[in-house]
Amino acid sequence: MEPGCVGENDGLTFWLAKPEDYADVMSISEDIYSGNDYLPHRYHKWMTEPDRVVILARRAGKLVALESGVVVDDGRTVVVEGLRVCPTERGHGVAGVIQRFADSYLKKLYPSIKVKRLTRGDDPGPEKLSKFRLLARRAVVSLSGEAESFDGFISALKAKLMLEEGAGGPASKHLSLETEEQLRAVLLDPDVSSRLQLPGGAIIQDWQPLQPIEGNLAVLKRQNLTWFAGGGLVDKPTFLSFYTPPYPVPYGGRAVRLNIDMFGTDQGLARGALVANLDRVRAELRGTVMMHVYLHGSLWESLREFCQTDSGVQQCRNSWEQLLLERDL
Ligand SMILES: CC(C)(COP(=O)(O)OP(=O)(O)OC[C@H]1O[C@@H](n2cnc3c(N)ncnc32)[C@H](O)[C@@H]1OP(=O)(O)O)[C@@H](O)C(=O)NCCC(=O)NCCS
Repeated sequence: MEPGCVGENDGLTFWLAKPEDYADVMSISEDIYSGNDYLPHRYHKWMTEPDRVVILARRAGKLVALESGVVVDDGRTVVVEGLRVCPTERGHGVAGVIQRFADSYLKKLYPSIKVKRLTRGDDPGPEKLSKFRLLARRAVVSLSGEAESFDGFISALKAKLMLEEGAGGPASKHLSLETEEQLRAVLLDPDVSSRLQLPGGAIIQDWQPLQPIEGNLAVLKRQNLTWFAGGGLVDKPTFLSFYTPPYPVPYGGRAVRLNIDMFGTDQGLARGALVANLDRVRAELRGTVMMHVYLHGSLWESLREFCQTDSGVQQCRNSWEQLLLERDL
């Protein structure tokens, strides 16, 4: 094997990704997720993130695929992310080859890993799903608009809330969790999973599932999230939400992606949580905003309807889902 190569199979050689591979990785990533790809923004962070492995596959020196895994849940779980195959090699099983290599490489490096988890935005059908345990499905409300339209959008949403709930309605019932102690009390409470109906018992942060345990607090902390607790007592909320700082994505050349994750099943609290998150994030929005709200399936229709305004911020994708899958490793 060539120096630096960590394995080979099926005509492919495998390598650990380096910062200088960025341009190659971008060249196989065009048009991924309809311009909503997170990797152009995250790649360099991934290079230094603790317990993350990023694997590249090359054929005759040319980059053909990438897969990555981050070890979480106190070493028990690897969450795989970033899978992609260059357009000319798709449909020939390359994704399977790199995934099998990554699984065995990660397992050798971290023998504590028991399960592999992943989230997907498409439903591959029963045959492919049968290889996994389907832990949860979440609904996604997707909207887009220019940053300037968000002032009008937020005002329209607030007016709707006032009409429905009065001045003391659900928006004002969401408190931001400003300190680590507050967040710790909420996340480490033993009934948090059932009270908030966490999908598969996990907090899914921008597609990354994490069990609400002490060891994952550092993983969450490095994402700079802004958290809100609603309903019930502040350390025993019946609704929890947060946004990931908006980040640039390739769409149209000047777009940011805003992901808001919500946990809980109350319609009014979901509406209030949306307003609380948008109010806080507004100043960080620039250019075209691709906004995705991930929430319990029973809330999709109500939130979609709530978001219908004439502000210029519009639904940009029909109903779709986030699937959380797991298999033993
Ligand atoms: C999705 C993608 C990676 C599939 O690559 P591919 O080499 O064409 O995949 P194939 O259809 O040949 O399938 C090969 C294997 O990968 C698996 N696979 C395909 N798509 C997958 C996905 N989105 N997530 C996980 N596994 C997937 C298949 O189940 C199959 O597994 P098997 O070998 O165990 O049967 C490729 O089309 C791509 O890069 N798309 C753009 C990026 C993207 O959408 N990534 C999905 C991340 S969830």
